Amino acid sequence: MVDVILGLQWGDEGKGKIVDYFAPNYDVIARFQGGPNAGHTLYVDGKKIVLHQIPSGIFRENKINLIGNGVVLDPVILRKECDSVAAFGVDYKKSLFISERTHFILPTHRAIDRASEAAKGKDKIGSTLKGISPAYMDKTGRNGLRIGDLMVKDFGGQYKKLRDKHQQILDNFGFDEDISVWEEEFFEALEFIKTLQIVNGEYFINDAIAGGKKILAEGAQGSMLDVDFGTFPYVTSSSTITAGVCSGLGIAPQKIKEVIGITKAYCTRVGSGPFPTELHDDTGEQIRKSGNEFGSTTGRPRRCGWIDLVALNFACMINGVTQLVMTKADVLDDLDILKVADAYNVDGRETKQVPFQMERVKLEPVYKEFNGWKENITQVKRFEDVPAAMDIYIKYINSALGVPVKYISNGPGTDQIIVAP
Ligand code: GDP
Ligand code: IMO
Ligand code: MG
Repeated sequence: MVDVILGLQWGDEGKGKIVDYFAPNYDVIARFQGGPNAGHTLYVDGKKIVLHQIPSGIFRENKINLIGNGVVLDPVILRKECDSVAAFGVDYKKSLFISERTHFILPTHRAIDRASEAAKGKDKIGSTLKGISPAYMDKTGRNGLRIGDLMVKDFGGQYKKLRDKHQQILDNFGFDEDISVWEEEFFEALEFIKTLQIVNGEYFINDAIAGGKKILAEGAQGSMLDVDFGTFPYVTSSSTITAGVCSGLGIAPQKIKEVIGITKAYCTRVGSGPFPTELHDDTGEQIRKSGNEFGSTTGRPRRCGWIDLVALNFACMINGVTQLVMTKADVLDDLDILKVADAYNVDGRETKQVPFQMERVKLEPVYKEFNGWKENITQVKRFEDVPAAMDIYIKYINSALGVPVKYISNGPGTDQIIVAP
């Protein structure tokens, strides 16, 4: 069977830590979408490491880690990641597998991403500039190059054809930066990719399922960044929701069992786009500071705000979430008052639904207030020991979402997790 772990907000919910925590219970950990726009942080022997494309099960022994066909892969970044996990003693040549259907991110994809964002001016998406959108455009536009092409086709010729097409786009944008160094690195990294285990991902994973192996699918980004259901156009270019697991790995929907949704105890967003519960005051600043809310991939400060139950309800619905993990609860330890958005007021009308778009309407969250617990919870180990005020906060979220909070993360450390009885 297949279980899924994914983010329910705008990314950075703590997926890396939580996947690493659950990985010992599984045989295969598989990324099904996204690319190096992701930054998943975990701690290994007390040392911090950020993964971008390698699944977060890589540090657990005797696990298979699969980069699925739904991912877009930058070989240069993968090579650096492999070096950094090897420094921890990981034998990635044994434990890392890549689907031959996974699409490449080319150097020109990165250039187009840059040029396109610059041309958007104040309407820019706030992309991580890793080439994600151009790579997915070439996938759906039926131009892209895939990992398997390295083995079976005249890759150099195919590359040149696509590169020439991209040059026309870049010329249109007036982009004239020299990217020859990027290209050199790219071709060097391709030689490295050839030394990795490239597999037919869909047979690989279905054979594993048929053989009774347990699969954990690891999401990147978050549901509100999904290309269909997120705050379009301020989204990423992949299917970040449970449905993406099927198309991003080649497995049937009825194989999916638990869908573990992660939410922070508050909410953050990095990049542009609507964020109804965003705080522009000292409280927002306090959360950013105590939560160390700076992007794992780009270092940009993350926008911070209150937990948004309207958006979370929507995310639970489209994902079929069966259990919740609440992360970064400790970040709220010092706050006197906590707010949760219970509904939206859209153009004077109260609603519990996420509207088609949030930009051209007047949208105000309707808040419910709770007392803060004002206690350091980072050492709490048992659910029955959480402060009473926190218990009230969690119970409210349980009932509003109709899905139980089964785990509370109370610090970045792997052992800082409280499990519900
Ligand atoms: P991801 O993209 O969902 O994997 O999340 P990121 O790694 O981008 O961001 C989450 C950040 O919060 C990382 O720096 C984690 O080390 C940290 N983190 C995860 N869980 C907790 C928690 O419960 N408490 C605190 N204080 N930090 C946490
Ligand atoms: P993880 O997996 C937070 C955001 C970018 C931008 C938008 C589009 O670490 O949670 P893209 O580079 O995909 O074209 O950017 O999506 N974004 C993320 N925000 N966490 C991420 O990944 C993100 N990946 C992309 O900031 O607003
Ligand atoms: Mg992240």
